[in-house]
Amino acid sequence: MDFTLNENQKMIQNMVKRFVKDKLAPIAADIDKKGEFPKKIVKELGKQGIMGISVPSQWGGSEMDVVSYAIAVEEISRGCASTGVIVSVNNSLVCDPILQYGNDYQKEEFLTPLASGKKLGCFALTEPGAGSDALNQKTVAVKDGDYYIINGSKNFITNASEADIAIVIAVTDKNATKKSRSISAFIVDMKSEGVSIGKIEDKLGIKGASSCSIIFEDVKVPANQLLGNEGDGFKIAMTTLDGGRIGIAAQALGIAQSALDDAVAYSKERKQFNQYIHEFQGIQFMMAEMSTKLEAARLLVYKSAYLKEIKDPNYGTFSAMAKLYAAETASFIATKGIQIHGGYGYTKDYPAERHFRDARITEIYEGTSEIQKIVIARSLLKN
Ligand code: CAA
Repeated sequence: MDFTLNENQKMIQNMVKRFVKDKLAPIAADIDKKGEFPKKIVKELGKQGIMGISVPSQWGGSEMDVVSYAIAVEEISRGCASTGVIVSVNNSLVCDPILQYGNDYQKEEFLTPLASGKKLGCFALTEPGAGSDALNQKTVAVKDGDYYIINGSKNFITNASEADIAIVIAVTDKNATKKSRSISAFIVDMKSEGVSIGKIEDKLGIKGASSCSIIFEDVKVPANQLLGNEGDGFKIAMTTLDGGRIGIAAQALGIAQSALDDAVAYSKERKQFNQYIHEFQGIQFMMAEMSTKLEAARLLVYKSAYLKEIKDPNYGTFSAMAKLYAAETASFIATKGIQIHGGYGYTKDYPAERHFRDARITEIYEGTSEIQKIVIARSLLKN
């Protein structure tokens, strides 16, 4: 078993590290404070091939493996968790389903600009009444000649207010014998008539990434923008999330690494009782535990990415485990990071509080920790 990164993986790690150090980390606090979408950064990342990392070059991507993708999201999130999720959503939740289920026309028309960073995507599954219960969709798409007419609303959609293209999940046949077959997936141009952006959420963290509702009022979508076949939408959404969870788990790794790095650095600056606080065993034990959990999380995240890369049929169970463990680890490390900073950690003078706020969402979006446990338990019990 070889745990070393290959040359391509090291190359992307170094490239993203450099970009983050020079351009992103210095403005991360500002992005958070202003709650501003990092438009320029996202454009630059697009030019560097980071918006479609595992997409073949034929369709505008960088044609790198899924481990490279996880490494890139981790390193970006180490600098700025908001940028991390923007990148993760475009790669995992938008490019990936078009790559997996799209036809050549859809790949040419939609995947190529998305993967090359010319356009940005969002994934519209969640609705007010369909969060964890994703099957409970109310948005409808009715076939009308060469079009589908979409009506309904989605909420908490990452990237929605900046997105050019959305993957929209909607009910096409409410009488289908199986509820899971009642749903279809569409590629929707966000500039279509009848699409509007509703409430933009004022969130605890990842403030540079927008999360908002989208309203669809008699939106005419050409029938050739149906992704896969009618009735495939729920399967497309679920398999997309199997991959998406690797991106969020990688985001959690980046936040956790940053929180640990900051705590270690602070412990070497801060003196109490006439000694640096890192000399206290209580602080050392905390840091040892943080570091051990982080390494365990990283092994799970890279393993799930590797399993997706080799198309292991069970990789979704591993991505659920990776997200569950990495998210809970990020929250644990960020909490301890504040503890090591003491009162200063509770102020905005140090990034410890930002890591804490950013970490929290990784336990919620793309399936809460409880949903990941359901996915893992079902896989254990299925035979
Ligand atoms: N791959 C393929 N098929 C799958 C699947 C998977 N991973 N998971 C389920 N299915 C299939 C099932 O086999 C079943 O098929 P049949 O009907 O043919 O038997 C069908 O889908 C229905 O599955 P379940 O019976 O398991 O459905 P359920 O209602 O019990 O729900 C769930 C399953 C796992 C809880 C699912 O609803 C779920 O994942 N919920 C969480 C949703 C989520 O993660 N939302 C995140 C939104 S996106 C986001 O957060 C983006 C962002 O902002 C960053």
